[in-house]
Amino acid sequence: MSYSTLQMERLDKGIVWVSIDNPPANAISDALVDDLDRLLTELEADQSARVLVIGSNHPKNFVAGADLKMMTQNASKFAGQGGAIRDAASRMQHVFDRIAKFPRPVVAAIHGHALGGGCELALACDFRFMSGGTIGLTEVSLGLIPGAGGTQRMTLLLGRAKAAELIFFAKRLSKEEAEAIGLITKAVEPDRLREEVLAFAQDLSERAVFAMGLAKQAMDAALPIDGGLRVEAENFERTFSTGEPLEGIAAFLQKRPAKFLKDTAAKA
Ligand code: COA
Repeated sequence: MSYSTLQMERLDKGIVWVSIDNPPANAISDALVDDLDRLLTELEADQSARVLVIGSNHPKNFVAGADLKMMTQNASKFAGQGGAIRDAASRMQHVFDRIAKFPRPVVAAIHGHALGGGCELALACDFRFMSGGTIGLTEVSLGLIPGAGGTQRMTLLLGRAKAAELIFFAKRLSKEEAEAIGLITKAVEPDRLREEVLAFAQDLSERAVFAMGLAKQAMDAALPIDGGLRVEAENFERTFSTGEPLEGIAAFLQKRPAKFLKDTAAKA
């Protein structure tokens, strides 16, 4: 199967290394979501694919999040079509959920910025190795909320108070900061990322990977997030009725700070 936004390498010991390759920013476009969906269908059925690694070919970004340029166009295209933005978020959630539920282990190899949806994608993996850039759920700085599982998976991973701090302040953490709070598995030197991830993936692959898949399923059964994902997708759409994304996304694209607080000073 061929993919326009992914490059797939089949390595020794059943390791499949998939690099996201979606220039210019490695943002999450519809084409990337479709490719990931098809890739998961291919690899789920292929039992020789024992460990999946997700990395990136972009020089600076792991994944820059949802495609904000596409989102601006879609917001006007979808205006008045109740549920269309929610459905787009649900589609991204569905594909990231397939990564989370992939029946063998999945490792994220993060060499650069993993922001917004990029962080959500990394959170859907079982393990995160990081060598550079920043990681965080940055959506609130744009007037949005995480819409691809981030509100659920970050809260489960770090607890409610830490997740609230990181999400409300749209924190971008270095690899050292992310490792200190357990957001990533391990911070590594930039020139050692591939080597370290490969050694880790090989160690996994030599073990009982099908048992790991079944253990994953059982762990997740204790923490069903379907209800939370539904609210997340609905509220992602509701952000557009607050007017905040209009300011937040415009400010980002115009490379200026967002001004959400209107001037309320009483005129003399
Ligand atoms: N969607 C669409 N385009 C994006 C993008 C995104 N998520 N992130 C970056 N880009 C574009 C920028 O608009 C810019 O385009 P331009 O050259 O037409 O101006 C280009 O990619 C380079 O971005 P720039 O910010 O100049 O590069 P940088 O190396 O200084 O910073 C990032 C890279 C990823 C740290 C920064 O672009 C960023 O913070 N992006 C937004 C991340 C985010 O909050 N994502 C969540 C979305 S919900």
